[in-house]
Amino acid sequence: MRMAAEINPSRPGVSYDVRKLREDFPIFREPVNGKSLVYLDSAATTQKPQSVIDAVVRFYTQECANIHRGVHYLSERATESYENSRERVRRFINAASTNEIIFLRGATEAINLVAQSYGRKYLKPGEEILISAMEHHSNIVPWQILCDEKEARLKVVPINPRGEFVFEEYARLLGPKTRLVAVTHVSNALGTINPVRDIIELAHERNVPVLVDGAQSIQHMPVDVQSLACDFFAFSGHKIYGPTGIGVLYGKERLLESMPPYQGGGDMISSVTFEKTLYNRLPYKFEAGTPNVAGGIGLGAAIAYVENLGVANIHAHEDALMTYGTTALQALDEVRIIGTAKEKASVLSFVLKGIHAHDLGTILDQDGIAIRTGHHCAQPVMDFFNVPATARASLGLYNTREDIEALIWGLRKVQEVFR
Ligand SMILES: Cc1ncc(COP(=O)(O)O)c(C=O)c1O
Repeated sequence: MRMAAEINPSRPGVSYDVRKLREDFPIFREPVNGKSLVYLDSAATTQKPQSVIDAVVRFYTQECANIHRGVHYLSERATESYENSRERVRRFINAASTNEIIFLRGATEAINLVAQSYGRKYLKPGEEILISAMEHHSNIVPWQILCDEKEARLKVVPINPRGEFVFEEYARLLGPKTRLVAVTHVSNALGTINPVRDIIELAHERNVPVLVDGAQSIQHMPVDVQSLACDFFAFSGHKIYGPTGIGVLYGKERLLESMPPYQGGGDMISSVTFEKTLYNRLPYKFEAGTPNVAGGIGLGAAIAYVENLGVANIHAHEDALMTYGTTALQALDEVRIIGTAKEKASVLSFVLKGIHAHDLGTILDQDGIAIRTGHHCAQPVMDFFNVPATARASLGLYNTREDIEALIWGLRKVQEVFR
């Protein structure tokens, strides 16, 4: 495994000491099948730096208590740590207020919240929700459930053979009946970066709010929700080097204020009688029950880690690896890259002729090379490209050229086995 500083040729001056940085991630000290781990599955979940693990352990060992409720020392301390994380998230995505940062289980729950709260209030029979053909199931199924309930329609913006959003079709489909646009920032199956700024601008010209699924963008590129002007932005902590079971819904305060609660329970109320319940203020109105306190604190530590490195630097590093990886993959015999958009981030999806993706993944695993194989929770994308599954190598801030080289070496070996 290569252990050297990576210099990004496309952005001279932006250097990245990968060797030093990899030491922050204890998983890389764990052999897999007797080999050094080559982890190329960060789109599924990222590995965690020691600082995130420490933050979670610190909560359980030094400040474990329920939050927002107790007056005792530990409860106040835990509340402060949790709320500091909320402020860190706010700053990271440049939201106007912490009232706009709802802590949830992840991107999936964030999208379901918008579907069930905004959607149930505002969507009327015959109206439409507009998504794209490259969405993760998390940004399809919640809208199908809602549309079924409301006798509304789900419309889909097509993609082209490169796996790019077809903007002209979007402009045509975005009509007077559209109540919401919900679109991914970056496709998990193809790596396509969508032109969300333009998508939002056009929707707003027509008075339609936009939800951006940021599950695959937040960890790869700077996100400024005020500059984007998106109405909602959803992401998961575990894909940005944080713990599982914690995620964020950003929503414009005006919209969140107008929306009914998503779930009922403790913490989301200001008073309860059998006759009438008054709801808590934002963001707590949407946070019923004891939250994932350790997860929230861990997410704060993850964002601190990423900020310390600089998201723009991470982007530059991964971009250089993408270029390297794409060229190396293309040089293989009988490979088909699925998703060849001009703008891509950190995902290399492909098929090798005559070899099922699952076989390929299993053989790579024997050499400690972890990739994802399957439909990537994006079955409509697989249908579009007429493949049952793809192999997907996805990058994180800790990957090196040696990881790519190991992948290519492993793929050649797989081809040998099937020859
Ligand atoms: C684009 C996209 N959206 C949503 C999700 C759902 O994220 P989670 O399972 O963390 O809620 C994923 C997960 O892979 C994703 O890639």
